[in-house]
Amino acid sequence: MSASDRQRWNEKYARRPAATICEADEWLIVAHDTIAQTTPDVTTAGRALDLACGLGHNSIWLAQNGWHVDGVDISAEGLNQAEHLATATDTVVNWIEADLDDWQPKPESYDLAVVFRFLDRATVPRIVNTGLKPGGWLIYETFAASELDRPHSHIRNPAFTLSPGELRRLFADFEIVNFREETLEDRNVQRLLARRRW
Ligand SMILES: C[S@@+](CC[C@H](N)C(=O)[O-])C[C@H]1O[C@@H](n2cnc3c(N)ncnc32)[C@H](O)[C@@H]1O
Repeated sequence: MSASDRQRWNEKYARRPAATICEADEWLIVAHDTIAQTTPDVTTAGRALDLACGLGHNSIWLAQNGWHVDGVDISAEGLNQAEHLATATDTVVNWIEADLDDWQPKPESYDLAVVFRFLDRATVPRIVNTGLKPGGWLIYETFAASELDRPHSHIRNPAFTLSPGELRRLFADFEIVNFREETLEDRNVQRLLARRRW
């Protein structure tokens, strides 16, 4: 990631009106229900990692639901706004400003990794494979290539979209608990719930 990309995200977040409400992504809530039913103990004291967390809505939701959360993003501006939102709701998240290209998680330290609207085929699998404990969970959603055909899509670069079935192939060594390609009202995505094998 170049310095200009960092600047681009900082400028983008600075231009937006600060968020005052915080809603988690639907797929996070749905997939989290499965985790809570399968391994209820981790959802009360587990460690979670939100990669490219942006304004932190999913990190905050996880923290409010019992997780100790590290939210990592390259944008200081995004993380500042995320911290304001967390403080306003009395929520504690450990925000980490870092370029994921270089960032190394502590090996086998997380029970859950979540990724939304971010695709870096080299970086994300490396971090998830290293950082998750055996049996740790992955919740992932990002744009499918069919998103490019939607008339008003803001996604322009095909490299940031997934070919059919790609998300499950990126985590082929994982136990795939749920994989879906979904055409939603506002976007086309792939959704994955998977588990690192023991
Ligand atoms: C489309 S936003 C998604 C943010 C959040 N996950 C969400 O769903 O709202 C992509 C995020 O990736 C972050 N990002 C881009 N490249 C990055 C990198 N190399 N390391 C860390 N964060 C990065 C940007 O700052 C931005 O917050």
